[in-house]
Amino acid sequence: MEGSGKLGFYEFFAGVGLAREGLGPAWKCLWANDIEARKRDVYIANFPGEEFVLDDIAKVKADDLPKEASLAWASFPCQDLSLAGWRRGMSAERSGTFWPFWRLMRDLYDAGRRPPIIVLENVVGLLYGHDFVGLCEALAAIGMKFGAVVIDARHFVAQSRPRVFVVAVDLSVETAGFSLGGPIQSPWFPKVLLSVYERLPADLKALWRWWKVPVPASSPRPLSSIIEEKPSSVEWNSDAQTDYLVGMMSPASRERLNRLVESGTPAVGMLYRRMRNGKQTAEVRFDGLAGCLRTPRGGSSRQTVVVVGPDGIRSRLLSPREAARLMGVDDGFRLPERYNDAYLAMGDAVAVPVVRWLSESLLQPLARLSAEGSSRTIKPGNTRIGVHRHRTEERLADWGGGQ
Ligand SMILES: C[S@@+](CC[C@H](N)C(=O)[O-])C[C@H]1O[C@@H](n2cnc3c(N)ncnc32)[C@H](O)[C@@H]1O
Repeated sequence: MEGSGKLGFYEFFAGVGLAREGLGPAWKCLWANDIEARKRDVYIANFPGEEFVLDDIAKVKADDLPKEASLAWASFPCQDLSLAGWRRGMSAERSGTFWPFWRLMRDLYDAGRRPPIIVLENVVGLLYGHDFVGLCEALAAIGMKFGAVVIDARHFVAQSRPRVFVVAVDLSVETAGFSLGGPIQSPWFPKVLLSVYERLPADLKALWRWWKVPVPASSPRPLSSIIEEKPSSVEWNSDAQTDYLVGMMSPASRERLNRLVESGTPAVGMLYRRMRNGKQTAEVRFDGLAGCLRTPRGGSSRQTVVVVGPDGIRSRLLSPREAARLMGVDDGFRLPERYNDAYLAMGDAVAVPVVRWLSESLLQPLARLSAEGSSRTIKPGNTRIGVHRHRTEERLADWGGGQ
C-alpha cells in the first residue's frame, strides 16, 4: 500500500483507462501499458502522468514494474482468450498476450513481489472450451486461489455487456469472509460458470472461490436519458435514410416499431444490422437496452438510435458521447476526436461502474486485508504449486515463450 493509504495497481492492456476510471480514488496507478498509440493519447489526456508505457507486453520485464502493487488488472484483448488462441502448439503470433502476462507474474512471484490480487477481464467466450482449465492452472502455478463472476453491465448501465472477471488472490490471504460456501443462485454465476467449475480437476476445484459480490439494488439510468439532442459528431438521418432502415427491418422488428407508432408511445430503441440468410437485415430493440458495444473492426456494425416521438421516427448513429455514457463514463472524460477512434475506444473497454462495484465490494477489502498480513506470497516449496507450475511452464514453452 502507498504511503497515501491508496492501493497501488498495475493496469495491463490499459486501453483508454476505463479500468482505472472504475477503480477510482481509492487506488493509485503505478504503471500502465498498452500497445496502441491512439489509445495512449486518450489515456494521457485523461490521466496525465508518467505511468503509461507504450509497448508490446512481450517486451516488458519484471524489473520495469515499480514495487508495491496490490493489484494487477488485465483486460486482455478479447480475441486472444475467447475460443481461439490458447490451445497448445499455437504459434506465438496468434496465441497473443496471456503468456507474456503470465510470464511477468511468474517472475514477480519468484522475486516475492507478485501483487496479491490479479483480475483478468474478458468476454464470456473465455469460459467455453478447455482453455479455462489451463488458465486456472496458470494461476495455481503462481500461488493463487481464484474464482470468477460474470457481470452483465446491464445492472449498471443501459447496455447488455456480459463480461467475466476472474479474481485471483494470494494463497496467504484469508478469504473466508469474502466467499460463499457454494454457487448460490445469483446473476453473477450463470450456468456456464457452474459447468466450468464442474470440469476442473479436484485440486483446482479446491482453489476455487465463489466470490461474494452483491447485486445492486438500484436501476441503471434509462436508455432515453443518455440520448443527446444535438450530438457533435453525428447527424440525424434524412427521412429517406430512416425509411431505408425501416425497410431493412425483419418482420418482428417492424411489428415492434409499428405497435409503438400506432399507440403513440414515445420510445428510444437501438438498431443494429446483421446478415440473415446472406441478406443484410436490421433488428431493432425497445427493451431499454443497447446491444453490446463492439469495436468497429472486422465489419461489425455500429448501433443506430431510433427515436419514436410526436415527429414520427428519427434515426442516426449512436454518438461517441452516448457510447461513453453506455459504458458509465462521465461526460468530463475526453474522447478521441475521430468518430471511429472514439467508438473503438468504448467498444474495447470495460464498463466503469462494474469495475467500481467489484472494487468496492471485493477488491478493496481484499487488498486492505492482504496489506495488513505479513506474508506476501507462498513460494513454490508447496508441492501442488510445483505440479501446476511444471505443467504451465510446459504450455508456456509450447507457446514459444519459455525462459
Ligand atoms: C480489451 S482492450 C482493454 C481496454 C481497456 N480495459 C480500456 O478500458 O480501454 C485490450 C487492449 O489490449 C491492447 N493490446 C493488444 N495487444 C497488446 C500487446 N501485445 N501488448 C500490450 N497491449 C496490447 C489493445 O491495444 C487494447 O487496448
